[in-house]
Amino acid sequence: MRKPIIAGNWKMNKTIEDALTLIEGLKLELADCMDVEAVVCPPFTALKVVGDEIADTQIKLGCQNMSSEDDGAYTGEISHTMLKELFVKYVILGHSERREYYKETDFWVNKKVKKALEKNLRPIVCVGEKLEDREAGNTESVVEAQVRGSLADITAEQFKDVVVAYEPVWAIGTGKTATSEQAQAVHKFIRGVIADMVGQDAADGLRIQYGGSMKPDNAKELLSQPDIDGGLIGGAALDARSFAAIVKAGM
Ligand code: 13P
Repeated sequence: MRKPIIAGNWKMNKTIEDALTLIEGLKLELADCMDVEAVVCPPFTALKVVGDEIADTQIKLGCQNMSSEDDGAYTGEISHTMLKELFVKYVILGHSERREYYKETDFWVNKKVKKALEKNLRPIVCVGEKLEDREAGNTESVVEAQVRGSLADITAEQFKDVVVAYEPVWAIGTGKTATSEQAQAVHKFIRGVIADMVGQDAADGLRIQYGGSMKPDNAKELLSQPDIDGGLIGGAALDARSFAAIVKAGM
């Protein structure tokens, strides 16, 4: 019912030349991959060349942030119009690195999510607890507050275009993956919160990705959990073979 979605978040990596090498490799690896939605999210500077390369493939284009405003005096920001011009379909919003280093709050993530949906871009909305939250037994309350705040006022109909990514901060780039049981428990919890917000049907249709040290060797186990519908991949998305192996684990 829910088509798996594996997205590569390239973060602040890859020059245009390196991005081209990676996407050319990925095109070869993923030529016959139809059952899983594969998305690549290069840095803004490589969106154009990567988008041109995948225009005639199943691979979709995403980006890593977006302004909540339409246009005007917002130095350093990128608007929905600019992204759509490059055929971007998905936009990662509220990544923990943006929350941590750039102080993005749920309020701002929510503004961006609303703008993305209004302009027909699909948000990938990231939530996840820090290590200290988990150790204090606060995982559910922290994640629930992020889900309710970041996705406030989104209708059941709009949820069809939303993807949520559960990324425990302690598992990002650390090599420490959540166990499949830990991840499944939080995914199920998130689906329950969404059901309470907009109803069971919308919650059942929502795709929830896991992110945090997902690699070819742990992807299958994580993706086989009933509430894990995909992955948001950092480090392992920077290599064509390993990203393709994770996409194939979702088939
Ligand atoms: P890693 O896969 O490198 O842990 O990063 C996960 C992530 O933050 C994806 O958005």
